[in-house]
Amino acid sequence: MNVLEIITRKKNGGSLSYDELKFVFMGYLEKKIPDYQMSALLMAITINGMNMSETLSLTDIFIRSGEVYDYTGKIDYVVDKHSTGGVGDSTTLIVGPLAASLGLHMAKMSGRGLGITGGTIDKLESIPNFNVLPSPEFFYNQVKTLGFAISAQTPNLVPLDKVIYNLRDVTGTTESIPLIASSIMSKKIAAGATNILIDIKVGSGALIKTREDAKTLSKWLIAIGEAYKRNVKTIISDMDTPLSCAVGNALEVAEAINVLHGKRCPLFDASVEIVANLLSMAKGLSLEDATKETIKAIDSGSALKKFYEFVSFQGGELGKLHIAPNVIPVKAKISGTIESVDALGAAKLAGKLGASRMTLDDKIDYSVGILLHVGVGDTVEKDDLLMELFVNGDLPELKNADFSFINIV
Ligand code: URA
Repeated sequence: MNVLEIITRKKNGGSLSYDELKFVFMGYLEKKIPDYQMSALLMAITINGMNMSETLSLTDIFIRSGEVYDYTGKIDYVVDKHSTGGVGDSTTLIVGPLAASLGLHMAKMSGRGLGITGGTIDKLESIPNFNVLPSPEFFYNQVKTLGFAISAQTPNLVPLDKVIYNLRDVTGTTESIPLIASSIMSKKIAAGATNILIDIKVGSGALIKTREDAKTLSKWLIAIGEAYKRNVKTIISDMDTPLSCAVGNALEVAEAINVLHGKRCPLFDASVEIVANLLSMAKGLSLEDATKETIKAIDSGSALKKFYEFVSFQGGELGKLHIAPNVIPVKAKISGTIESVDALGAAKLAGKLGASRMTLDDKIDYSVGILLHVGVGDTVEKDDLLMELFVNGDLPELKNADFSFINIV
């Protein structure tokens, strides 16, 4: 097979066979195809798209590049959720224990954050001694007995996605819908879930910028699920505003605990919606009944109890959770109504404090972040508190920081 011919055909809008896709993509994983040729093909796919048959082929090639987990006949009600990434989105920390407290099983593989979006593994690593890489036997037993375990992605689960994702990240090819669909679904299918809920985030702080694109992605995710006999449902939610008042790793863990204590806020609503959908899919309940059961599991304290058990199973010491001690208040310069709290602006500020990384090798400070005290529609007087910044030491660059992402009119 000829790589140049394959790239050229996609550049001219043609379609590629299973074997041609396998030749280039697996060739890249095996280091037989160089970065520049793989990048050229990814760009041609991003511009000209892929049809469903190509997308199914690519998903299959991704899945077969590593280990595949199968819980059939061993563990019932295996569910999974995925968010396409957002700001202040710590739903996994709530959804996992909440789902487990309702008799579902979630074997969760999570990632680290890159750029503006946070990653669940970073949030968990802010808990001292939390083991993000349990052995496969430990992980399996924890899922079976406790109902919920998390692992950082092992090198053996869809290794092809890892190398391709890293290349997409630096070649302007992250927004291709068929590439996103095969990346997400290959990991969910390989990880063994039978009921999968995907939360597609749309807005300034998200990978997907328009509702139209979100709807297209939804169709592709469901179609791939059908091909593998997985029950897939999607929800589309806004990411113009941070999902919770906390942006920063340890702060987000603390906020997840507040929600598990019953705090009503958008993060509570989002978590309940995800778990109610999973419960309804897995156990055949109506969405209304599933929602009632889900809220009951929070209000009774059983989801919170599961969360504490989950953290201690994986070695974490919540008592030692460290939040940066220097607190800088940011106050309103004028009176008025909060018109917007831009997710991208909040994420960039948290990044400036050290909460996120721009390359996978960057070190992050788990203890820093932002606590927002206002939301869209609130009215404020001049000098009212808008947010608090949690920082370590003096940060001279904060003098020029941009706080205009909270827009008062
Ligand atoms: N999440 C993924 O896992 N892959 C993508 O391509 C985008 C979001």
